[in-house]
Amino acid sequence: MLSRAQVHAEPGMGAHAAFAAEMRACLAARPRRISPKWFYDSRGSQLFDAICELPEYYPTRTEFGILTRHAGEMAALMGPRAEVVEFGAGSLRKVRLLLDAMEAPARYLPIDISGDHLAQSAIELQRTYPGLDVQPVVADYTQRLLLPAPLPGAGKRIGFFPGSTIGNFTPEEALHFFVLAGQLLRGGALLLGADLVKDPAVLHAAYNDAQGVTAEFNLNLLARANRELGTGFELSKFWHSAFYNAPASRIEMHLVSRERQRVEWRGERFEFDEGEAIHTENSYKFTVEGLHAMALDAGFRPGPVWTDDAQLFSVHWLHAPA
Ligand code: TRP
Repeated sequence: MLSRAQVHAEPGMGAHAAFAAEMRACLAARPRRISPKWFYDSRGSQLFDAICELPEYYPTRTEFGILTRHAGEMAALMGPRAEVVEFGAGSLRKVRLLLDAMEAPARYLPIDISGDHLAQSAIELQRTYPGLDVQPVVADYTQRLLLPAPLPGAGKRIGFFPGSTIGNFTPEEALHFFVLAGQLLRGGALLLGADLVKDPAVLHAAYNDAQGVTAEFNLNLLARANRELGTGFELSKFWHSAFYNAPASRIEMHLVSRERQRVEWRGERFEFDEGEAIHTENSYKFTVEGLHAMALDAGFRPGPVWTDDAQLFSVHWLHAPA
């Protein structure tokens, strides 16, 4: 059954006001940075799906391969009538692999800040799993939120956080995420995808694709701000920069000003020097040990780890605190 009403679990101000406030704070600070969560309006989600299909972008297909190969083992660990809580409404292809392998999955609860993307995904999924209780939750999962109580007779609550989205948090935010997830998943587990440290050339290519889709994705942040906030950024005056910061084990994405310019918005003026950037995203790369250390700090107990033959990507079973 599809429960049509979406749960709005986000306290405080709405997404529009939050975007405006964070953009203002970004422009007022130097150096400038903004949360990557604002990438995902409908255009951003579309571009992101395109990134996942790019020949250079190995994470999606590698993780998909790992999930395909080991879904049976993962489903056995979940047990019967489990509830799957997905952090972010993905393309749904990944969670289908799990649902197909699971014994009588009871409920699927995708959490996403973009209600439109979420509703569309939920309807699609409901079509192929008519007996599954699909319950979309519109919320920012980086904040505390409440989930509906477990269904009567439900099994374990399993968090699913694929795509190495954990790597888009700072280490402090990642730890915070683990703590919040631990509270939501008590007695259950978290199935987590994490990209691994590797040859920087492979990483560089993945975030600087030949077709320029990643560049367009990055620039869409400014396009979205123009559409929703009336910021008036001239997109042609910024370029997409992505590079591997080896000491920090992360890819950094920036929007770099091509020239000295001034952006005027809501009666304020913000100067950009030539080469001055807005830092839009980090994508941390992990070692298995590093990931485990962080999970342990939040009270998770590391379980099995699955990787591909080339050790590009990892999927982790992490037991949630009791
Ligand atoms: N979390 C994935 C990664 O960091 C996917 C992703 C998020 C991404 N934002 C991105 C990929 C921007 C490319 C560009 O790789």
